Amino acid sequence: MEKVKVGMIGAGGLANAVHYPSLAEFNDVEISAICDLDTNRLKNTAEKYKIEKTYTDYKKMIKEVDLDAVYIIMPPHHLFDLVIQCLNSKLNVFIEKPPGVTSEQTRNMAITAEKNGCLTMVGFNRRFIPLLVEAKKRVLERGEMIQCVATFYKNSIGAGPYYAGAIDILTCDAIHAVDALRWMGGEVVSVASDIRSIYAEYDNSFNALMRFENGGTGILLTNWVVGKRVHTFEMHAKGISAFVNGDDNAFIYSDNKEEPLVLKAKEVAGSSENYKYYGFYNENRHFIDCIKQGKMPETNFADAFKTMELVNHIYRSQI
Ligand SMILES: NC(=O)c1ccc[n+]([C@@H]2O[C@H](COP(=O)([O-])OP(=O)(O)OC[C@H]3O[C@@H](n4cnc5c(N)ncnc54)[C@H](O)[C@@H]3O)[C@@H](O)[C@H]2O)c1
Repeated sequence: MEKVKVGMIGAGGLANAVHYPSLAEFNDVEISAICDLDTNRLKNTAEKYKIEKTYTDYKKMIKEVDLDAVYIIMPPHHLFDLVIQCLNSKLNVFIEKPPGVTSEQTRNMAITAEKNGCLTMVGFNRRFIPLLVEAKKRVLERGEMIQCVATFYKNSIGAGPYYAGAIDILTCDAIHAVDALRWMGGEVVSVASDIRSIYAEYDNSFNALMRFENGGTGILLTNWVVGKRVHTFEMHAKGISAFVNGDDNAFIYSDNKEEPLVLKAKEVAGSSENYKYYGFYNENRHFIDCIKQGKMPETNFADAFKTMELVNHIYRSQI
């Protein structure tokens, strides 16, 4: 395979911020066609990335253009039918988080992918943040994860529910922290949670204590009505503790030493571009490499189903 031929469905905000610029930098990728219902967005993105074949009907695009993979980047409640159609057309598929609105959707996307022999990936980009990857590596060099924490705070007071209520906050967005806990600590065997609706008619605070298969402890702390966006991670193993803010720094303390080792997100990534130091570039690289090697990506639909199931588990396990 010379170049991986990619078709893009969706030319919206996130795709333009992170996926188009990443793919455009890869010498082994050709963005062969683009589709969006919004003709302005379609035209602007097609012009910017010099994509000749433009469509407003994705079915026409996947029928007419020879593609190895499609990116389907749109709000979660529009995703399911397109994903199933593309998988049944034997295309490898990349989607953003969340992987559908319910775990049942994710499960059926995973089953359809398997039936058709397709490679799939969900954009859980936190797992690909160079700073987090480096911190996790250093922690695990000391032994298994004893304890880890994922926090995600936002100030969305008065913003209303996501997409007018098409999907809840935990599944739609705080899922990044849930998925990161699985990535840091492994599979979860038990959960106790506290979920609240604060200054709103919908749930906007999700906190949970969990036990991992290896006996370690995980803590989820998320709240959408507090000071500002702060999204951090803690990882602890024998004699070592990493406190990581993926936008900023990691402080790694070890062996009772007063001074931490400080790693800077942009330095570890070798770039001050958000899409590079925040994991988007590397997740795209991973997807393309997997397609070239015929290997299933790490955050495939079956794996994403486990994160969606953990979301369900958190809802069902309230104290
Ligand atoms: N990983 C992250 O940190 C992160 C951050 C922000 C958003 N996201 C996710 O990215 C996804 C997209 O979000 P966004 O804010 O960029 O959305 P958006 O609304 O800006 O863009 C979606 C685009 O899809 C197009 N579209 C919708 N249905 C279509 C169809 N049937 N055919 C062709 N085009 C169609 C729309 O016209 C629009 O241009 C969401 O799932 C969101 O949760 C992830």
